[in-house]
Amino acid sequence: MKCRVCKAPAFIKLPAHNTAFCPQHFQEFFLRQVERTIKKYRMLPPGAKVAVALSGGKDSLVTALVLKLLGYQVWGFFIDLGIEENDFSAASRRAVEEFCSRENLPLEIFSLKEHFHKTISQLALREKKTCALCGVTKRHLMNEYALKIGAYALATGHTLDDMAASLLANLFRWDLHYLSKGLPHLPPEPGFARKIKPLALQGEREILAFAQLHEIKPVEAACPYAREAKFKRYKAALDMLEEKSPGIKRYFYEGYTRHAHRFREETARPPMMSCLVCGFPSVSPICTFCRTWREEEARQRMAKKEPECYNGHKSFEDEVEKCKDG
Ligand code: AMP
Ligand code: FES
Ligand code: ZN
Ligand code: ZN
Repeated sequence: MKCRVCKAPAFIKLPAHNTAFCPQHFQEFFLRQVERTIKKYRMLPPGAKVAVALSGGKDSLVTALVLKLLGYQVWGFFIDLGIEENDFSAASRRAVEEFCSRENLPLEIFSLKEHFHKTISQLALREKKTCALCGVTKRHLMNEYALKIGAYALATGHTLDDMAASLLANLFRWDLHYLSKGLPHLPPEPGFARKIKPLALQGEREILAFAQLHEIKPVEAACPYAREAKFKRYKAALDMLEEKSPGIKRYFYEGYTRHAHRFREETARPPMMSCLVCGFPSVSPICTFCRTWREEEARQRMAKKEPECYNGHKSFEDEVEKCKDG
């Protein structure tokens, strides 16, 4: 196949777009596509300051590079979770550090071990829901960082494959709350930074090709507590459909973004209060993040807050067990 623009030998074939490109024209195409997504969902004004959450994987590194090339001020943020198995956290940290130093991007590293003298690996020894608690931890810290630096938005590296798979999973469960929150742009709310996913309409193959073109070296190790096999099954099902009908993933997810407001009207949010420890919005007196990482402080705050607990739970231990706010 030949490049659609210059007829040179193709470097990548894109069945979903029914086209093929040489390296230079693919680079232009890819940047234009992401720029369109940013405009379409009104994610960022020109030149805005953006906090980019970097995991060391190719998706978040590509997100940062594309935003930089499009003229935004990128501020990198990495959370060192202290996962020692597979050398996962150390290797991820090296990948992020090397990338930011090569691209001359500011980078802040938050180490759980340094701040809380605990790591995800230690948490995993006593908690079954490691992945869920890790998710809560990352969301809390990313949000805090974006607000702290006064970024216009917090960007993550979620891709079309991620967005379409979680949409499918949420549809199967008819989880109306999550169905209202699957948009690539979530505007700011009190205590919450604006959240954007600039690669929400870009597929895996394109992202991989862009990473190769720019010699991005992502971390190769995988998290030992990897996401449930269920999520991978939804991805595999969508891959199978995409092979038969190129473009179907994008059609599915883009269509959802036009109808997502219908779910929003259906779902009432649980009443929000301020966490007694960190002050961020929470559905229980102490947020899950503080219950997990600031146990002692949380215990002391709860002891002072007697007697009533809004849920009728009697003690802090009850809170930890029953007040899961996810
Ligand atoms: P995941 O939930 O692991 O698929 O990650 C989704 C997005 O969250 C990534 O694309 C990153 O933007 C961000 N992220 C994940 N892990 C980290 C981390 N350790 N530090 C900073 N950002 C992260
Ligand atoms: Fe958090 Fe795997 S990265 S549990
Ligand atoms: Zn070309
Ligand atoms: Zn808190």
